[in-house]
Amino acid sequence: MKNKQVLLSHSIYTAVEGQELVDGYLVLEEGRIAKLAHGEPSSADLKDAQVHDFRGQTITPGLVDAHTHLVHGGSREQELALKLAGASYMEIHQEGGIKSTMRATREATEAELLDKALATLLSMLQHGTTTVETKSGYGLDKETELRVLRINRELNKLQPLDLVSTYMGAHDTPPEFPDQAAYIKFILEEVMPQVQKEKLAEFCDIFCEEGIFSLEETREIGEAAKRMGFKLKIHADEIVPMGGAGLAADLGAVSSEHLMAIADEDIPKLAKSGTVAVLLPATTFFLRSEHFAPAKKMWDQGVTVAIASDYNPGSSPCENLQMAMDMACLGMGLQPLQILKAVTLNAAKAICRDHEIGSLEVGKRADLTIFKALNPDYIFYHFGLNRVSHVFKDGWQVLRDGQIDQAALQSVLRTKR
Ligand code: NIG
Ligand code: FE
Repeated sequence: MKNKQVLLSHSIYTAVEGQELVDGYLVLEEGRIAKLAHGEPSSADLKDAQVHDFRGQTITPGLVDAHTHLVHGGSREQELALKLAGASYMEIHQEGGIKSTMRATREATEAELLDKALATLLSMLQHGTTTVETKSGYGLDKETELRVLRINRELNKLQPLDLVSTYMGAHDTPPEFPDQAAYIKFILEEVMPQVQKEKLAEFCDIFCEEGIFSLEETREIGEAAKRMGFKLKIHADEIVPMGGAGLAADLGAVSSEHLMAIADEDIPKLAKSGTVAVLLPATTFFLRSEHFAPAKKMWDQGVTVAIASDYNPGSSPCENLQMAMDMACLGMGLQPLQILKAVTLNAAKAICRDHEIGSLEVGKRADLTIFKALNPDYIFYHFGLNRVSHVFKDGWQVLRDGQIDQAALQSVLRTKR
């Protein structure tokens, strides 16, 4: 039901500083949060309302997955044996890695790419995600990159989750460009103007890593992207500490991602510039890396920390954001309430959507995730399975007891802006 609804719970996580937990109720009206209060709803609150009794469960803002590589062809399970035999990410990269997904993406039909991504989005929804950032970067040539970004736009209309699109031509240099400088010139002059013209991406992302794009190249692409009107994200300091996080801060990037190898001196720079650190612990786990990004250190020094899945076929083939949340807790040592903030309000900040989503505040969109958990701690304690029971998108209950409600889903699509 779209109109007035009242949700009861002893455990409502709001993501609002100073009022994180509420034992009370939420009123939703016209797809937005109309009221949040402690205690019992009054008869005026209940008048003409549909009541949902979620006492015994925990309500949070809808989860925001702020870093994914959603649309791509194929899979890379053959890399598992190499990895278990001790090959590093960069060794696998030389043999196949991103380029093997590039080939599969170029070869796939539009319908194949779309169907695969659609299935993943519905799985994300079943695991509690309501908004997803998604990057291109597995086509690399102009035609495939534009196709992927147009598919992102199409996907936005075909299913309830909101997609935020990022152009990531600087994910790797394709084999048809033996000269990396020529490839950079090509993306700056041929591809990015077209992406802008068709308004296909809000952000531009660059893989700043030893053997991929250098600090200087990242600066060149980043500055040009900003001049063209893109907001900036940088994959930085994932494997080698190159100063990518410091550069992200210098360039005023909205976010800087991975940061497993961030240098200590770059942490205060992120705090000062307000660049969100998007950390991807499921990737650390899947790459079998030695240590997680220093999440606690960043948090304590005032960096805005978000946690995301990094869903992609190479380093994190997992669309379940709860997996990354579990690793942020038991691997990185973040507290449950910090992690909930990192996948809601802070993740919304990483995609510039915090004015609309990410916290339970009057006026914000009624995107809600309900966990089978008496309290926030229980979400992280009962690990390894899907704890999400219900999801509301724009006030519509699209997931009910773990099942997608097709009628509600169609209603969201009708009202999608
Ligand atoms: O975010 N680090 C760069 N890009 C992806 C992985 C790319 C791949 O291996 O396919 C990531 O981890
Ligand atoms: Fe990534």
